Amino acid sequence: MAHELIPGLEGIPIAESQVSFVDGQRGRLEYRGISVEDLAENSTFEETAFLLMYGHLPSQSEFDEFNNDFTQVFRLKYQVVDLIKCLPETGHPMDALQAAIAAIGMFYQPRSNLTEAQRRQACLRIIAKTPCVVAAFERLRHGEDWPVPLKHLGLAANFLYMMKHQEPDPLDARILDVCLILHADHTMNASTFAGRVVGSTLADPYCVASSALGALSGPLHGGANEDAMALFETIGTPENARPYIEDMIKNKKKIPGFGHRVYKTIDPRAKILKKHAEALANKSGNPIYQIAVEAEKVVSEHYAEKGIWPNVDFFSGIVYSELGIPRDCFTPVFAIARVAGWLAHLLEQLQDNRIFRPTQKYTGPHDQPYVAVNER
Ligand code: COA
Repeated sequence: MAHELIPGLEGIPIAESQVSFVDGQRGRLEYRGISVEDLAENSTFEETAFLLMYGHLPSQSEFDEFNNDFTQVFRLKYQVVDLIKCLPETGHPMDALQAAIAAIGMFYQPRSNLTEAQRRQACLRIIAKTPCVVAAFERLRHGEDWPVPLKHLGLAANFLYMMKHQEPDPLDARILDVCLILHADHTMNASTFAGRVVGSTLADPYCVASSALGALSGPLHGGANEDAMALFETIGTPENARPYIEDMIKNKKKIPGFGHRVYKTIDPRAKILKKHAEALANKSGNPIYQIAVEAEKVVSEHYAEKGIWPNVDFFSGIVYSELGIPRDCFTPVFAIARVAGWLAHLLEQLQDNRIFRPTQKYTGPHDQPYVAVNER
């Protein structure tokens, strides 16, 4: 049977899912039916990860046990730290993260025929260790020691602690926690799809996470927040924002951090991040937030009618750099959050699994002769 080819599978459902939902017209994102606004206001990343993976908010005892399990598994083995030390310090942190997560899987048995409990334990281990790997690479590449995570801190606070070897301001930790909640899942994007494809072969959760990390590392997926930050820095002052952006628009250049395949109104995550970017920039006196606001105003005057609005990446870079996170770690921070979503999708995929095996439209020749090498 011939099928129409849809490039990028745009608009083609590839699975039934109950993990997250986006309404691009209303600007609504829900995890398991709960709005991200509600979760950002009231939840923590750990609780959100539980919600994504188990399908419901935890009871107090379930949550205590989940948090306790986290602290049991978040330390990296010495061999993993040694492995990270051997990676080139000039390499990208996303590559280090992908290599380390793939390698971590080698330390834990079994890797096949996992029971549901073993699979969930592996998922928890990956979520808990991902921030440790990012922080370890960041510190080791600068010749600094990697501090082990502290049991009394949550995942976001621990990440900031490990990055600077200093306990963070609780407000900074809470803002990062909110960022992680906002990035934890986003329906069937490229990395989630990649993870589900790999999971459908019954590969283990470490392989699933490392494949999804590879997909996220591409510039068409993670990374527009780095471009948005570079734009604000090039603009330099709030007064320069209008002429600079108007010139970009005149020359039909794309504005990083604007536009979305699904959202035709403001991305709900951008609204929340804007508020935190403002609070952090006010505290530090960094003018970059004002530059972003002026730029947003000008772009919106031209493009709002066309449905082009700020997306999650317009303000997230400001938040991350105000929290002292280096620019090449922006996408790894995205990954720290998104592993929860990838692994929730893996668990869902395996509830009613069928290996992905799409077809293709062959456009090459047939019946070609084999020509011996000396006759070519
Ligand atoms: N700045 C200026 N114009 C934009 C724009 C932007 N950031 N995003 C989209 N547009 C315009 C396109 O030029 C196109 O105009 P046209 O119809 O006159 O040709 C129209 O809006 C549709 O854009 P298109 O790129 O086809 O939409 P898409 O759904 O395929 O792409 C993105 C979505 C996110 C890839 C796109 O908006 C983009 O490149 N944004 C900038 C990068 C970014 O912020 N990425 C992070 C996404 S979370």
